[in-house]
Amino acid sequence: MLEVKDLTVSYGAVRALGGVDLSVAEGSVTAVLGANGAGKTTLLRAVSGLLRPRSGRVELDGADITGLPVEEVVRLGVAHVPQNGGVITELTVQENLRLGGLWRRDRAALARRIADMYELFPPLAQRRSRTAATLSGGERQMLALARALTGAPRLLLVDEPSLGLAPRVVAQLMAVLRRLCDEDGRTVLLVEQNARSALSVADRAVVLDLGSVVADEAAAVLAADDRLRHAYLGF
Ligand SMILES: Nc1ncnc2c1ncn2[C@@H]1O[C@H](COP(=O)(O)OP(=O)(O)OP(=O)(O)O)[C@@H](O)[C@H]1O
Ligand SMILES: [Mg+2]
Repeated sequence: MLEVKDLTVSYGAVRALGGVDLSVAEGSVTAVLGANGAGKTTLLRAVSGLLRPRSGRVELDGADITGLPVEEVVRLGVAHVPQNGGVITELTVQENLRLGGLWRRDRAALARRIADMYELFPPLAQRRSRTAATLSGGERQMLALARALTGAPRLLLVDEPSLGLAPRVVAQLMAVLRRLCDEDGRTVLLVEQNARSALSVADRAVVLDLGSVVADEAAAVLAADDRLRHAYLGF
Protein backbone atom coordinates (compact mmCIF):
# COMPACT_ATOMS: atom_id res chain seq x y z
CA MET A 1 0.00 0.00 0.00
CA LEU A 2 2.79 2.39 0.98
CA GLU A 3 6.22 2.34 -0.61
CA VAL A 4 9.05 4.59 0.48
CA LYS A 5 11.93 4.50 -1.95
CA ASP A 6 15.45 5.79 -1.37
CA LEU A 7 14.12 8.65 0.76
CA THR A 8 16.53 11.33 1.91
CA VAL A 9 15.43 14.19 4.17
CA SER A 10 17.62 16.98 5.56
CA TYR A 11 17.07 19.87 7.95
CA GLY A 12 19.50 22.36 6.48
CA ALA A 13 22.90 20.73 6.87
CA VAL A 14 21.56 17.96 9.14
CA ARG A 15 20.75 14.78 7.22
CA ALA A 16 17.96 13.06 9.16
CA LEU A 17 17.23 10.25 6.67
CA GLY A 18 19.62 8.89 4.08
CA GLY A 19 18.23 6.57 1.41
CA VAL A 20 15.45 4.87 3.36
CA ASP A 21 13.39 2.08 1.76
CA LEU A 22 10.21 0.83 3.39
CA SER A 23 7.20 -1.11 2.29
CA VAL A 24 3.90 -1.36 4.16
CA ALA A 25 1.38 -4.05 3.21
CA GLU A 26 -2.32 -3.22 3.30
CA GLY A 27 -4.05 -4.47 6.45
CA SER A 28 -0.83 -4.86 8.43
CA VAL A 29 0.86 -3.19 11.36
CA THR A 30 4.41 -2.16 10.47
CA ALA A 31 6.60 -0.88 13.29
CA VAL A 32 9.42 1.62 12.81
CA LEU A 33 11.80 1.27 15.74
CA GLY A 34 14.98 3.04 16.77
CA ALA A 35 16.57 5.26 19.38
CA ASN A 36 16.24 9.02 19.94
CA GLY A 37 17.16 10.91 16.80
CA ALA A 38 17.09 7.83 14.54
CA GLY A 39 14.78 9.65 12.10
CA LYS A 40 11.44 7.99 12.93
CA THR A 41 9.40 11.19 13.23
CA THR A 42 11.10 12.61 10.15
CA LEU A 43 10.01 9.54 8.18
CA LEU A 44 6.35 9.94 9.21
CA ARG A 45 6.42 13.67 8.46
CA ALA A 46 7.83 13.04 5.01
CA VAL A 47 5.11 10.46 4.29
CA SER A 48 2.25 12.70 5.43
CA GLY A 49 3.48 15.72 3.48
CA LEU A 50 4.63 17.81 6.44
CA LEU A 51 8.21 17.68 5.17
CA ARG A 52 9.49 17.76 1.63
CA PRO A 53 12.19 15.15 1.02
CA ARG A 54 15.44 16.12 -0.61
CA SER A 55 15.21 13.05 -2.85
CA GLY A 56 13.42 9.73 -3.17
CA ARG A 57 9.77 8.80 -3.54
CA VAL A 58 6.69 8.08 -1.50
CA GLU A 59 4.03 5.99 -3.24
CA LEU A 60 0.52 5.23 -2.08
CA ASP A 61 -1.25 2.44 -3.98
CA GLY A 62 1.39 2.83 -6.66
CA ALA A 63 0.81 6.57 -7.17
CA ASP A 64 3.55 9.08 -6.47
CA ILE A 65 2.53 11.31 -3.53
CA THR A 66 6.00 12.74 -2.83
CA GLY A 67 5.79 16.40 -1.85
CA LEU A 68 1.98 16.61 -2.07
CA PRO A 69 0.46 19.11 0.36
CA VAL A 70 -0.75 17.62 3.66
CA GLU A 71 -4.45 18.17 2.86
CA GLU A 72 -4.10 16.19 -0.37
CA VAL A 73 -2.45 13.31 1.45
CA VAL A 74 -5.25 13.39 4.06
CA ARG A 75 -7.86 13.21 1.29
CA LEU A 76 -6.13 10.12 -0.06
CA GLY A 77 -6.87 8.42 3.27
CA VAL A 78 -3.72 8.97 5.31
CA ALA A 79 -4.02 10.22 8.91
CA HIS A 80 -1.05 11.23 11.05
CA VAL A 81 -1.15 11.10 14.85
CA PRO A 82 1.87 13.21 15.82
CA GLN A 83 4.27 12.58 18.68
CA ASN A 84 2.53 13.79 21.90
CA GLY A 85 -0.86 13.51 20.19
CA GLY A 86 -1.35 17.12 19.18
CA VAL A 87 -4.85 17.38 20.63
CA ILE A 88 -6.10 20.91 21.23
CA THR A 89 -6.22 21.20 24.99
CA GLU A 90 -8.57 24.21 25.08
CA LEU A 91 -11.27 22.32 23.15
CA THR A 92 -13.54 19.63 24.52
CA VAL A 93 -13.17 15.97 23.65
CA GLN A 94 -16.20 16.23 21.34
CA GLU A 95 -14.81 19.33 19.59
CA ASN A 96 -11.46 17.64 19.03
CA LEU A 97 -13.21 14.65 17.49
CA ARG A 98 -15.29 16.83 15.18
CA LEU A 99 -12.12 18.54 13.93
CA GLY A 100 -10.64 15.21 12.85
CA GLY A 101 -13.44 14.52 10.39
CA LEU A 102 -14.62 18.01 9.39
CA TRP A 103 -12.96 17.88 6.02
CA ARG A 104 -15.28 15.03 4.99
CA ARG A 105 -18.27 17.43 5.00
CA ASP A 106 -20.82 14.64 5.44
CA ARG A 107 -22.31 15.65 8.81
CA ALA A 108 -24.32 12.47 9.37
CA ALA A 109 -21.33 10.26 8.62
CA LEU A 110 -19.15 12.32 10.96
CA ALA A 111 -21.70 11.97 13.79
CA ARG A 112 -21.70 8.21 13.26
CA ARG A 113 -17.91 8.05 13.26
CA ILE A 114 -17.78 10.01 16.52
CA ALA A 115 -20.32 7.63 18.08
CA ASP A 116 -18.12 4.73 16.94
CA MET A 117 -15.13 6.36 18.64
CA TYR A 118 -17.01 6.61 21.94
CA GLU A 119 -17.72 2.93 21.65
CA LEU A 120 -14.07 2.13 20.88
CA PHE A 121 -12.81 4.37 23.73
CA PRO A 122 -15.43 4.41 26.53
CA PRO A 123 -13.40 6.78 28.78
CA LEU A 124 -13.76 9.44 26.07
CA ALA A 125 -17.54 9.07 26.03
CA GLN A 126 -17.71 9.83 29.76
CA ARG A 127 -15.56 12.92 29.25
CA ARG A 128 -16.97 14.25 25.99
CA SER A 129 -17.83 17.72 27.35
CA ARG A 130 -14.57 18.22 29.24
CA THR A 131 -11.63 20.04 27.74
CA ALA A 132 -8.74 17.89 26.57
CA ALA A 133 -6.55 19.68 29.14
CA THR A 134 -8.33 17.73 31.90
CA LEU A 135 -7.53 14.30 30.41
CA SER A 136 -4.86 11.91 31.62
CA GLY A 137 -1.94 11.09 29.33
CA GLY A 138 -3.55 7.84 28.25
CA GLU A 139 -6.92 9.45 27.58
CA ARG A 140 -5.22 12.18 25.58
CA GLN A 141 -3.48 9.60 23.43
CA MET A 142 -6.82 7.82 22.93
CA LEU A 143 -8.33 11.15 21.86
CA ALA A 144 -5.49 11.75 19.39
CA LEU A 145 -6.05 8.31 17.89
CA ALA A 146 -9.84 8.72 17.86
CA ARG A 147 -9.56 12.13 16.23
CA ALA A 148 -7.48 10.67 13.41
CA LEU A 149 -9.99 7.82 13.01
CA THR A 150 -13.02 10.12 12.64
CA GLY A 151 -11.73 10.84 9.15
CA ALA A 152 -11.93 7.07 8.39
CA PRO A 153 -8.34 6.85 7.13
CA ARG A 154 -7.07 3.78 5.33
CA LEU A 155 -3.51 4.33 6.51
CA LEU A 156 -2.81 5.50 10.04
CA LEU A 157 0.63 6.92 10.91
CA VAL A 158 1.14 6.87 14.68
CA ASP A 159 4.17 8.49 16.31
CA GLU A 160 5.17 7.04 19.71
CA PRO A 161 1.72 6.60 21.27
CA SER A 162 3.30 4.89 24.31
CA LEU A 163 5.36 7.91 25.37
CA GLY A 164 4.96 8.54 29.11
CA LEU A 165 2.14 6.05 29.60
CA ALA A 166 1.79 3.24 32.14
CA PRO A 167 2.41 -0.28 30.76
CA ARG A 168 -1.25 -1.27 31.15
CA VAL A 169 -2.40 1.74 29.11
CA VAL A 170 0.26 1.07 26.47
CA ALA A 171 -0.98 -2.51 26.13
CA GLN A 172 -4.55 -1.26 25.63
CA LEU A 173 -3.49 1.19 22.92
CA MET A 174 -1.45 -1.46 21.12
CA ALA A 175 -4.42 -3.82 21.22
CA VAL A 176 -6.60 -1.12 19.65
CA LEU A 177 -4.09 -0.66 16.81
CA ARG A 178 -4.10 -4.41 16.16
CA ARG A 179 -7.92 -4.45 16.10
CA LEU A 180 -8.02 -1.59 13.61
CA CYS A 181 -6.17 -3.86 11.21
CA ASP A 182 -7.85 -7.15 11.98
CA GLU A 183 -11.43 -5.93 12.29
CA ASP A 184 -11.58 -2.73 10.22
CA GLY A 185 -9.01 -3.55 7.54
CA ARG A 186 -6.96 -0.44 8.28
CA THR A 187 -3.21 -0.24 7.80
CA VAL A 188 -0.94 1.07 10.54
CA LEU A 189 2.58 2.46 10.44
CA LEU A 190 3.61 2.60 14.09
CA VAL A 191 6.69 4.51 15.23
CA GLU A 192 7.93 3.46 18.66
CA GLN A 193 10.95 3.58 20.90
CA ASN A 194 9.12 1.05 23.05
CA ALA A 195 10.21 -1.83 20.81
CA ARG A 196 8.93 -4.61 23.00
CA SER A 197 5.35 -3.28 22.98
CA ALA A 198 5.38 -2.44 19.28
CA LEU A 199 6.72 -5.87 18.33
CA SER A 200 3.94 -7.53 20.31
CA VAL A 201 1.37 -6.23 17.78
CA ALA A 202 3.40 -5.64 14.62
CA ASP A 203 3.55 -7.93 11.61
CA ARG A 204 6.73 -6.41 10.33
CA ALA A 205 9.37 -4.15 11.80
CA VAL A 206 11.96 -1.80 10.43
CA VAL A 207 14.82 -0.54 12.60
CA LEU A 208 16.28 2.89 11.89
CA ASP A 209 19.66 4.01 13.14
CA LEU A 210 21.09 7.44 12.33
CA GLY A 211 18.71 7.83 9.40
CA SER A 212 19.32 4.45 7.78
CA VAL A 213 17.46 1.14 7.82
CA VAL A 214 19.55 -1.43 9.69
CA ALA A 215 16.91 -4.18 9.82
CA ASP A 216 13.66 -5.01 8.04
CA GLU A 217 12.15 -8.28 9.22
CA ALA A 218 9.00 -10.08 10.28
CA ALA A 219 8.31 -8.81 13.82
CA ALA A 220 8.68 -12.29 15.33
CA VAL A 221 12.07 -12.76 13.66
CA LEU A 222 13.32 -9.42 14.91
CA ALA A 223 12.05 -10.04 18.44
CA ALA A 224 14.04 -13.30 18.49
CA ASP A 225 17.27 -11.72 17.19
CA ASP A 226 19.39 -11.14 20.30
CA ARG A 227 22.10 -9.25 18.47
CA LEU A 228 19.69 -6.71 16.93
CA ARG A 229 17.68 -6.37 20.11
CA HIS A 230 20.76 -5.60 22.18
CA ALA A 231 22.35 -3.31 19.61
CA TYR A 232 19.32 -1.18 18.70
CA LEU A 233 16.19 -1.95 20.69
CA GLY A 234 17.33 -1.83 24.29
CA PHE A 235 15.77 -5.05 25.55
N1 LIG B 1 13.39 20.72 12.96
C1 LIG B 1 14.61 20.20 12.97
N2 LIG B 1 15.70 20.92 12.67
C2 LIG B 1 16.94 20.38 12.65
N3 LIG B 1 17.19 19.10 12.95
C3 LIG B 1 16.15 18.32 13.27
C4 LIG B 1 14.82 18.83 13.29
N4 LIG B 1 13.99 17.80 13.64
C5 LIG B 1 14.78 16.73 13.80
N5 LIG B 1 16.07 17.03 13.58
C6 LIG B 1 17.22 16.09 13.65
O1 LIG B 1 16.96 15.03 12.74
C7 LIG B 1 17.32 13.78 13.32
C8 LIG B 1 16.14 12.84 13.36
O2 LIG B 1 15.15 13.38 14.24
P1 LIG B 1 13.73 12.69 14.44
O3 LIG B 1 12.91 13.64 15.25
O4 LIG B 1 13.19 12.25 13.16
O5 LIG B 1 14.14 11.42 15.32
P2 LIG B 1 13.22 10.38 16.10
O6 LIG B 1 13.70 9.03 15.71
O7 LIG B 1 11.79 10.69 15.91
O8 LIG B 1 13.65 10.62 17.63
P3 LIG B 1 12.75 10.54 18.98
O9 LIG B 1 12.62 9.08 19.29
O10 LIG B 1 13.58 11.25 20.00
O11 LIG B 1 11.43 11.19 18.72
C9 LIG B 1 17.93 14.12 14.68
O12 LIG B 1 19.32 14.20 14.54
C10 LIG B 1 17.33 15.46 15.02
O13 LIG B 1 18.19 16.19 15.85
MG1 LIG C 1 10.28 11.17 17.15
